[in-house]
Amino acid sequence: MIFKPFMREGFFPLSVTFISSISRDGIRNIAPYSCIMPVLRPLDLICLASARKRDTLVNIRETREFVVNMVGTEFSNKVIPTAKFSPPAADEFDLAGLDEKPSETIRAPGIAGSYAWMECELFKVYEEPDYVLIMGKVLRLEVADEVLTRDGGLDIQKARPLMMTGSKKGMHFCTVTDIKQFEPFGAMFPDGKDPIAKQEEK
Ligand SMILES: Cc1cc2nc3c(=O)[nH]c(=O)nc-3n(C[C@H](O)[C@H](O)[C@H](O)COP(=O)(O)O)c2cc1C
Repeated sequence: MIFKPFMREGFFPLSVTFISSISRDGIRNIAPYSCIMPVLRPLDLICLASARKRDTLVNIRETREFVVNMVGTEFSNKVIPTAKFSPPAADEFDLAGLDEKPSETIRAPGIAGSYAWMECELFKVYEEPDYVLIMGKVLRLEVADEVLTRDGGLDIQKARPLMMTGSKKGMHFCTVTDIKQFEPFGAMFPDGKDPIAKQEEK
């Protein structure tokens, strides 16, 4: 079957992250963002695509900071309350019944109950007429101990990361399954050694 090009996101499941930010006046805001990706190993950059009409975008431009909250499937009932239009003066933590987790390096708070928090400062903005790419630098990354494996990886059975695929009708929420296959990064290189490992140790 051939699909229209704009249907591309229906075929790679996207993380549903919650971006928390504050306005210049300190009003707390939350919005789900799925168009988000890390920018290459071993960098500490993260990139999100934002439509122009977003309080999140206004807040990030004004305060130059935000938190990427990674959540489990138990947050699925918080997606619509935080995605619905609400006036910039509304406190979206209160609206969605969510508590804050104070951040260590920035003023914008994280969301309590998430399994990971990325405290970010604005690094660069790429402007297009209809959208903006926001590049953030992760200043601090905290992950809840309960969702970590013994070797410090993400135990996806415990975290059950909230994800979704889009279809013509809307959003289908899902999570991931561990297929019990592991490969070291070095396996990609002829000598079996991962050249980036040294940079990550620094
Ligand atoms: C699952 C989901 C993912 C979304 N991802 C994005 C996204 O990546 N970029 C974006 O601009 N809007 C995205 N949205 C829409 C915003 O979350 C929504 O417009 C929200 O009201 C924006 O809030 P704000 O004005 O407080 O920033 C998404 C909505 C949902 C439900």
